[in-house]
Amino acid sequence: MTDALSTTTKGHTSQPPVHIACIMDGNGRWAKRRGLPRTAGHTAGEEALAAVVRAAAQRNIGWLTVFGFSTENWVRPRAEVRHILGLHRKLFGRIDEMNQNNARINWIGRPFDEPGARTPVYVQRAIRKAMADTEHNTGLVVTVAFDYGSRAELVRAARACKDTDSPIDAETIDHKMYAPDLPPVDVLVRTSGETRISNFLLWQINGAAVYFTEKTWPDFDSDELDRALKLVRSN
Ligand code: IPE
Ligand code: IPE
Ligand code: MG
Repeated sequence: MTDALSTTTKGHTSQPPVHIACIMDGNGRWAKRRGLPRTAGHTAGEEALAAVVRAAAQRNIGWLTVFGFSTENWVRPRAEVRHILGLHRKLFGRIDEMNQNNARINWIGRPFDEPGARTPVYVQRAIRKAMADTEHNTGLVVTVAFDYGSRAELVRAARACKDTDSPIDAETIDHKMYAPDLPPVDVLVRTSGETRISNFLLWQINGAAVYFTEKTWPDFDSDELDRALKLVRSN
């Protein structure tokens, strides 16, 4: 390992990989404070996420799962929803960057063909392409929750359990989650001073430490990530 690398990773390479999950909240308030439209807050939030992915890759974080858009968020004004959809296309289009970070892109949410699922086809395409074009990477797994709701995920799992011969236990339910390979969350982050969990990974956050911060998501940076990591790492 080079000196430069050991400095930037602050000893994290010797630590086991962890799973950090973020409820990226406060984009609207970030914009309002600056006299900008809410859409500007979402744009800044997407850029903050790209920076957090780079920081996470340097810190030997195994899994970064982020709440991009919930099953409840569709009721927002149409122009805002359209803007957020465009930002997800941009996010899933950051393939060169993901490859440079040796990061794999994944997605969780209502399966595209399920009644009620609302992911538009152009976002579906961006998701499929991002997953295919980064699947060879062996480092950080970045999972974006889009059209995601934990209750919908659990209802689907419960229904799937009915059709299996396996005993209905925690292990079987684990296997029916949208991304069965995703390990339990080690640290759940929520930004913008809100101390709610909302509808995010309700099954997977069992035992997780929780990091609440007053910072709005566009201001969440590598120092904040380090503070969250301190809940599970000693250096
Ligand atoms: C989070 O920021 C982004 C999404 C939910 C898509 P918000 O848009 O909820 O920002 P606030 O909570 O209104 O400040
Ligand atoms: C949570 O933010 C969802 C996402 C970050 C995508 P919201 O701003 O929608 O959450 P609630 O409804 O206020 O809890
Ligand atoms: Mg909010």
